[in-house]
Amino acid sequence: MRISDKPVAARLKGFGVELRPDADLSEETSLGIGGVTDQLRLHRYDTIPQVMRLLAEEKIPHRFLGGGTNVLIADGELPWVVLHLPSVHPGVHIDGNFVHADASADLGGMVTSCAKSDLGGLEGLIGVPGSVGGALRMNAGAYGTQIGSYVREVELYRAASGEIETLRGNDIRFDYRHTSFAPDDIMLRVKLELPSRPYKDILEGIRVCNEKRRASQPLSQKSAGCIFKNPPGASAGRMIDELKLKGYRVGDAAVSERHANFFVNLKHVACSDMLRLIDDVRDRVRTAYGIELENEVIVWKN
Ligand code: EPU
Repeated sequence: MRISDKPVAARLKGFGVELRPDADLSEETSLGIGGVTDQLRLHRYDTIPQVMRLLAEEKIPHRFLGGGTNVLIADGELPWVVLHLPSVHPGVHIDGNFVHADASADLGGMVTSCAKSDLGGLEGLIGVPGSVGGALRMNAGAYGTQIGSYVREVELYRAASGEIETLRGNDIRFDYRHTSFAPDDIMLRVKLELPSRPYKDILEGIRVCNEKRRASQPLSQKSAGCIFKNPPGASAGRMIDELKLKGYRVGDAAVSERHANFFVNLKHVACSDMLRLIDDVRDRVRTAYGIELENEVIVWKN
């Protein structure tokens, strides 16, 4: 969607928004899939309510794109603009056992910054790609750690009130790959409380998690991590593997040879092929196991 040549562009710039016309979202996602649209880079948090009101008044459809590591976006000209918080390095400030992080900060960078200050607990998240905000929104987890366990406060733009608010950790629900945030809420900053742990112990924890991840996940290929959530008491990856679907392809979309719940982009995959692969695998699991797999990946169709 093109808005950079419209009068609204000047008003957005007045709110500190940088407009990137015709951004290629395939370059902004870990799957390497996604069409073209104008990107609005929100350099100021305080003007976000005004920006959102202006977009509503002008009836400009929009979506928020974080680190792009858990999203499958349609190809071609997209009928909405994307909002994005540019990352500020390192975006992490440590105060005793409290960590204040920008939502746009890199999750792995935050884990290592905390480790250097002898703050542990997040070791399992070390190889999870993406931003702190994306991890918060979906309560990212791995190897027994989930980020929600450590959240004390979240500052966010709340779609319901149209304002920036601060929520206490206890007022937010963090479930398995799900939170009580609304789909249109925008994470801005988080305050975590982490346990003290010697740096060398944290490094050892990080090394062990990295090793397990390297041994079981296709880290060098383009993917969105696990495509499906694990159903209660079962493993999506194991079921897909048992059905001998590793390597199964639709066009350039393939079930990873290494981990069957990772679907990879072999070269120039069309979004429609990845969607067909997802539906096909879901159908086969339903037929064989009577289980309906739920997407972990977020799909943005046009
Ligand atoms: N398995 C197979 N074949 C496969 C994949 C897995 O038989 O192709 C078996 C494994 O041998 C193991 C079981 O299934 O016995 C579980 O596999 P794994 O330990 O790899 O964990 P997972 O349940 O597939 C979850 C998360 C991952 C996270 C790992 C490690 C989900 C959907 N996935 O995977 O998170 O990294 O545990 O904690 O919850 C993600 O969410 O994107 C993600 C990668």
